[in-house]
Amino acid sequence: MDRSKLFQDSAYLQKNQYRDSRNLDARAALHRQFSTAVTDWQPWVFDLLKLEPGMRVLECGCGPGWLWRQNVERIPAGCHITLTDLSPGMVAEAEAALADSGHQFSFQSANIQALEFADDTFDVVVANHMLYHVPDLAQGLAEVRRVLQPNGRLIAATNGDKHMKELPLLVSEEARQMTASWRMRGITDQLPFRLENGRSLLESFFAQVDLHLYEDSLWVTEVEPLIAYAFSMIKPEMDVPETAVAQLRQAWAAKIAADGGIHISKDSGVFVAANPE
Ligand SMILES: C[S@@+](CC[C@H](N)C(=O)[O-])C[C@H]1O[C@@H](n2cnc3c(N)ncnc32)[C@H](O)[C@@H]1O
Repeated sequence: MDRSKLFQDSAYLQKNQYRDSRNLDARAALHRQFSTAVTDWQPWVFDLLKLEPGMRVLECGCGPGWLWRQNVERIPAGCHITLTDLSPGMVAEAEAALADSGHQFSFQSANIQALEFADDTFDVVVANHMLYHVPDLAQGLAEVRRVLQPNGRLIAATNGDKHMKELPLLVSEEARQMTASWRMRGITDQLPFRLENGRSLLESFFAQVDLHLYEDSLWVTEVEPLIAYAFSMIKPEMDVPETAVAQLRQAWAAKIAADGGIHISKDSGVFVAANPE
């Protein structure tokens, strides 16, 4: 299988990479543990939703529902929030965590390219780190535009070319050969939806597009979370050879012992897109 296609291969994403939240959590854990940001990512994104009581919200590619789980006490009264994901496993995890939250949530497996909602249904649509997975992005964005009310807003988070730019320099050639991650292979400019091209892609559907940048970097002081991150996106047919892991473990432990930690840059942000009247 051509590994450059895996990132947008719906069958691989649904049945392998995102069958449940384990791989995603290995990556999120690195950020949670070693971020230097003042505000955590999910609360920062939540602020940009600008929710008001009674709003109708759709999240596409919700994963295990972290945006809502980490902000559950901040959800205004009477909001109706529909969480959808290509992966039924992710939807099941989101539902298990939020069904008894006291808020009005609905859950559904759905591909952003073919949403089963009527036109003009939602005030806000959220696509948090997921548009780069969508094979026909124009179709996905057309669907978002269709289900949004005329004055509704899309909140689309993604990363830029400089995000974790040190990673390909840190990993061995052997690990790079195994990965399905464009980031680890250092070819982030091939990512279909990123900070650099997001505005022009969104402007085909929305008259106003604002970009909000998130200030953060990682200072990694433990080896194992970095190992878990590095091997969280490998080709499905591959087993991780212990020699590759042992090599990296040794190299990173030496770097941490010498410098006190490993600095990794971050480059993430959120586009807020709308058609103001
Ligand atoms: C990187 S994860 C982000 C999860 C969550 N939004 C978060 O930020 O924690 C990407 C998610 O998008 C989902 N996804 C990928 N392609 C999709 C598509 N075409 N339609 C809907 N969801 C999709 C994946 O199953 C995965 O759960």
